[in-house]
Amino acid sequence: MMHIDSRERNFIIGTTILLLIFGAAVLVSSFAFGFQVPAPVERIDPKVVATPGQSPWGDPVAERLRELAPNKYEVYILAQAWAFQPNQIRVPVGSTVTFYLTSKDVQHGFRLDGTNINMMVLPGEVSRLTATFDEPGEYNFICHEYCGVGHHTMYGQLIVEP
Ligand code: CUA
Repeated sequence: MMHIDSRERNFIIGTTILLLIFGAAVLVSSFAFGFQVPAPVERIDPKVVATPGQSPWGDPVAERLRELAPNKYEVYILAQAWAFQPNQIRVPVGSTVTFYLTSKDVQHGFRLDGTNINMMVLPGEVSRLTATFDEPGEYNFICHEYCGVGHHTMYGQLIVEP
């Protein structure tokens, strides 16, 4: 049998235990806390994304929130320097909202307070995440990727009405 130095064996055992701990942490966070990985769901041409008729982000801002069924919504938010469109969204309490975001120009971010929605918003890619709102209130969202001099003005609000 191959001889393994005791220190080397201890490193192998220690590394294996660490990997098991990390693996368990990933499983617990994904299943117990419902963490979602915001993988790009679709590619889209950023040059025409805001053109009417070319994509849901080309529709009038007032029509970007869509009711699919009672308490089930989707919203198409366009990020561009330096605003979100729409930047104010109203849904009734108990709603499940799927957020579709893309950027018209540079890299932006989207973080919605009080939820686990946190994603990068890249030109050419569609990011999608879903959250359910069981508490009425005002949920602020911000751009959290530095995108230029107006970065700090990129924010908006989701209002969950009782
Ligand atoms: Cu957009 Cu920072």
